[in-house]
Amino acid sequence: MIIFGAGGDLTKRKLIPALFHLCHGKLLPESFAVVGVDRLEMDDHAFRDMMESDVQGNLGAAWDPATWARLRERLHYMQGDIKDQGAYQTLCERLSQIDAERGTDGNYLFYLAVPPMLFADITRLLGAVGLTSEGASDWRRVIIEKPFGSDLDSAKALNGMLHETLDEGQIYRIDHYLGKETVQNIMVFRFSNGFIEPLWNRQHIDHVQITVAESVGVEHRGAYYDTAGALRDMIPNHLLVLLGFLGMEPPNSFESDAVRDEINKVLDAVHPLTPEQVLTNAVRGQYGDGVMTNGEQVSAYRLSPGVAAGSRTETYAALKLTLDNWRWAGVPFYLRTGKRLHGQYTEVVIQFKRAPTIMFKDADTAQMSPDMLVLRIQPNEGIQMSFGAKIPGPRMRVGTVNMDFCYADYFGNAPATGYETLIYDCMNGDATLFKHAETVEKGWEIVESVQDVWSALPARDFPNYAAGSWGPPGADDLLKNDGRHWRRIR
Ligand code: BG6
Repeated sequence: MIIFGAGGDLTKRKLIPALFHLCHGKLLPESFAVVGVDRLEMDDHAFRDMMESDVQGNLGAAWDPATWARLRERLHYMQGDIKDQGAYQTLCERLSQIDAERGTDGNYLFYLAVPPMLFADITRLLGAVGLTSEGASDWRRVIIEKPFGSDLDSAKALNGMLHETLDEGQIYRIDHYLGKETVQNIMVFRFSNGFIEPLWNRQHIDHVQITVAESVGVEHRGAYYDTAGALRDMIPNHLLVLLGFLGMEPPNSFESDAVRDEINKVLDAVHPLTPEQVLTNAVRGQYGDGVMTNGEQVSAYRLSPGVAAGSRTETYAALKLTLDNWRWAGVPFYLRTGKRLHGQYTEVVIQFKRAPTIMFKDADTAQMSPDMLVLRIQPNEGIQMSFGAKIPGPRMRVGTVNMDFCYADYFGNAPATGYETLIYDCMNGDATLFKHAETVEKGWEIVESVQDVWSALPARDFPNYAAGSWGPPGADDLLKNDGRHWRRIR
């Protein structure tokens, strides 16, 4: 595994810890080695020492010296300028030498932990020295991370450039939401339980809510975020991953093409929003000063480092989407995401239709909530079913109760970064949990109609929600106008 950008944050926070967990679970082959590539002057020992102190800090209680010793001696380092062709020649030689020492058989996984503008150059230079050409028995794969372009045109251009050197089957596009156990579990929950699927359609479901709420701000990424905004940063990728898994038909198998085709069909079915519909079905917001739930006083987005003083970039986006297909016709999917909100959580709410009639005369129907399934993606991972039950007593009263499954109760809190499965799958050539070029382009297509209207009509009312609140009032109206409301967690 060759990591470009080995001195960066992702390597120490996610990649090496994920390899540590794989090593701990005996899921790395004996003939495995890492070559970190970066500009910093270092030898193998210095790289190992640097990783050791960073990773030990990151892993906390999960640290295990014996596992680290096994991984540590597999770490190598090569100093090089990744824009310089000469570095790739040196890399070829280094890899042949490691192949010989460790019997790695010429199978290479290139992980581009670098800014996206370098993706195309690195693959081209790898191709120029023959490092992307697969033989009869060896493989060459490249992992890249979002953002995959910043709109439809740039995503197509990036895919075009990658395809000049690589086959689609060699490109593994990571959306870290696909690495989350609870996201993968949406498929397991739907397709391994006979009782769920018959209810999972417009006959029984009133609407679906997908919330990715963050209490954090833009941290040190103000300069990037100010050019992206909440819509482009989160929706074409993470929220549409959730929409794809929730909306898909059962694939014929758990093979990557079968699964990815079904996800693409969901995105294809998203009803395109006209500019007039964008005005009523999409809501944007930007946070101003406010107080977070922990009492922390935070300043407005516009005062974040790297953000323009009069920025009109949205830090909150909510959309109402519908799908033009038999399963979902007429069922709204409400999506929302934002920074500096009241809480930090990701969840999906499946709101079932009410019973056709309430026969219990004394029941206070106004107090009865419709049945609801909540998939808690993070934190407190689990699934909650809310339904009506008889309140004990001589009168026939109905109250809402919850049945709750918590991952931690059944499976403990297995330490993971979310990258373990993805790296493992890539090594095994399984692209199911990676994004196809087409999926990426469809994602951009969906948000582009909204982005175009928003760019043409810069928001005049920003900031329009206080940090620590639930977002702009317009997002509540989006559901209120349909006689619904967002689920709130305290
Ligand atoms: C990233 C976005 O892709 O996902 C960030 O760029 C966001 O802005 C992050 O904070 C959210 O990921 P998670 O796993 O914390 O929900």
